[in-house]
Amino acid sequence: MRYHVSENLQTPPQFQVGLKPILENEWLLPDDGAYFLAEKQTLLDNEPVFAAFADSMPEQIEAAQIIAQNIGQQYRGDEPPLKAISRHISDDTIIMAKRGGEWQLIAFSLCSPTFFSAEYALGKSLHLLHEPIPTGDFKLSDRIARIFDNLKPESILERFNWTVQWSNQSYTPNGAILRKMADEGDINDANEMLYERVERQTIRLLPETGALLFTIRIRLTKVSDILKDDEARQYFANAWENAPQNVRDYKKWSHLERHIKHLLQTYKKEEHV
Ligand code: HEM
Repeated sequence: MRYHVSENLQTPPQFQVGLKPILENEWLLPDDGAYFLAEKQTLLDNEPVFAAFADSMPEQIEAAQIIAQNIGQQYRGDEPPLKAISRHISDDTIIMAKRGGEWQLIAFSLCSPTFFSAEYALGKSLHLLHEPIPTGDFKLSDRIARIFDNLKPESILERFNWTVQWSNQSYTPNGAILRKMADEGDINDANEMLYERVERQTIRLLPETGALLFTIRIRLTKVSDILKDDEARQYFANAWENAPQNVRDYKKWSHLERHIKHLLQTYKKEEHV
């Protein structure tokens, strides 16, 4: 099957908002991450992946109902509604509410976090969450907060970002573990072990409570499969090699450099055989 070059791989990554409107029937279905649902039940049952403030019940109920309606599923009544409905979709589900003048996380299920933990996230504001991002001349969290403040009830917005990781794990609260594995990994294993990790994120308003529902779905694709496709290889090489330094540093790509270089050379050579 040909690798579909998503829009966000067509230019080098940047720190940008990049939100586009989607339709209700494009929001959660089809769930191309459904293979993760079995593992997700185990995580929800055994790991600290769900957290919520005690007073977040109205927002959780509204979020669970809106998801249930979209996917045509009922959810269990013996656990928090957001946790119960999250069992049916591969996406992580995060509720943000404006409290004390700041958008903050009040309830979430976080089974495929890109290198941050549930323990770290509860109660954090948009500002604190995005503080580590070296955008330079603008403050990302101010831009995001403006969008959140002005979201219309009928709008569903979607954005993508991506990185590369060593292994095909979805549940990755700690990026340092993967970076260590990459540091110690043999370049001959890069073919099997390097994965592009795309995050597909959506936001929509919960009109009754005024909170926001943020979803994140992870797509993992072997980098070597991307590089086998001529067009995709060219886009990937361009995006990797021309990513601005602040983005490379933030994504900690130096740990992967020798592996990616090796793969790009390998697949370039095969082109000329
Ligand atoms: C739709 C609005 C949002 C936009 C435009 C946005 C944008 C970004 C961008 C550009 C990055 C840098 C990562 C990259 O480019 O690969 C980032 C990282 C991050 N975002 Fe957001 N974000 C949004 C909403 C949220 C929300 C609601 C959360 C709540 C969980 C969140 C949590 C994070 C975290 C934890 C990171 C990683 C920060 C770190 O490295 O420590 N974002 N976001």
